[in-house]
Amino acid sequence: MNPRETLTSPRSEASAGNVAGTAARPEAETAAPVISVEDLAIAFPSLDGRETVKAVDGVSFAIAPGETFGIIGESGSGKTTIGRALAGLLPPTGGTIRYDGEDLRGMSRRDWRDRRRRYQIVFQDPNAALDPRMTILQSLIEPMKIAGGRSPEEMKAEAMRNLDRAGLRAELADRHPHELSGGQKQRVNIARVLPLNPRLIVCDEVVAALDVSIRGEILNLFAELQREFGIAYAFIAHDLAIVAQVSDRIAVTYLGRFMELGPAEAVTERPLHPYTAALLSAEPRPLPAHLRAPRRIELKGEIPSPVNPPSGCRFRTRCPHAQGLCAQQAPEWREVRPGHHVACHFAGPDGLVEHASQQSSAKTDTGGDHR
Ligand SMILES: Nc1ncnc2c1ncn2[C@@H]1O[C@H](COP(=O)(O)OP(=O)(O)OP(=O)(O)O)[C@@H](O)[C@H]1O
Ligand code: SF4
Ligand SMILES: [Mg+2]
Repeated sequence: MNPRETLTSPRSEASAGNVAGTAARPEAETAAPVISVEDLAIAFPSLDGRETVKAVDGVSFAIAPGETFGIIGESGSGKTTIGRALAGLLPPTGGTIRYDGEDLRGMSRRDWRDRRRRYQIVFQDPNAALDPRMTILQSLIEPMKIAGGRSPEEMKAEAMRNLDRAGLRAELADRHPHELSGGQKQRVNIARVLPLNPRLIVCDEVVAALDVSIRGEILNLFAELQREFGIAYAFIAHDLAIVAQVSDRIAVTYLGRFMELGPAEAVTERPLHPYTAALLSAEPRPLPAHLRAPRRIELKGEIPSPVNPPSGCRFRTRCPHAQGLCAQQAPEWREVRPGHHVACHFAGPDGLVEHASQQSSAKTDTGGDHR
């Protein structure tokens, strides 16, 4: 079974002309967002408590019902922090998150929990949400118990239905997590959230810890559930090829901000931001021919510290196209193609404007062919 063929991506239903902030899917253009984020900021105290780590520093977007919203970026760029905030696990230090139009701040704890339940997260580590002392059946029942409103018999019947829906045999219900494979545990994690009738699931590197041979099967399960229940996904991953395949739109994250956001096809085939172009060209695994960059763009150095990000454009210390202006002024977040936003002074509808790309061509590493 070839997962690339069987994964019926929602992207295939995407339309090119989506409106900024809504999904690429035609039916979603008018739908009210499942989640809308405005100027989100999340800061942590540094280890010594003397500085502030600006993990997320002003991002805005909205996810429509049934949309898959991909989030990519290097390690430390703030992907998980955004995901945890969407699932209500981290309070924003700035900005607003609206869940189906509602700002949950100021609600009673009980109301907040009732609302938040429908915005779930599945983690990279299949063990993260499973108690090793519980049987699989107990793990499946636990979220329903917390939610309340079902009898023990109803909970058991629902758990067994979801076990089956997630592609697991009934006999696994009496086992403990250590008796299951990573892929089976990830299926249990998915089955656990189904009774909560999720509107959005944050998928944080959900297949990264799994054997390559079963990744496609788990992605297929996510895609099937999306078609069946209209669940929206915030799909976080390092693996550009997977994000490109499953997402309707992709946001490219760098040092706590979005550099680019647009329809998946446009972002991967005609990237507007130099960072996106560099990520695409550095992809170590073979990308489909149409996504391969003609030459490698070397990203020098590490991602800077979010305690003290560079002035102006925060990508400038690693950008092969950086110019004087880039240090002085932060680029505006502009919509340069329909539904396609970018934060770069020199990005136009056809990519970088000529003088920037000409200046940079001498600095571009043409040595490594990553095909
Ligand atoms: N609880 C915390 N306390 C302090 N700093 C944190 C905390 N959580 C995250 N950070 C910092 O915030 C930044 C963003 O982290 P985050 O985990 O969101 O990145 P990421 O993009 O998910 O990275 P990865 O791809 O490695 O998972 C990093 O610099 C990280 O060290
Ligand atoms: S604004 Fe300047 S430094 Fe930033 S991405 Fe554009 S060219 Fe590079
Ligand atoms: Mg992460």
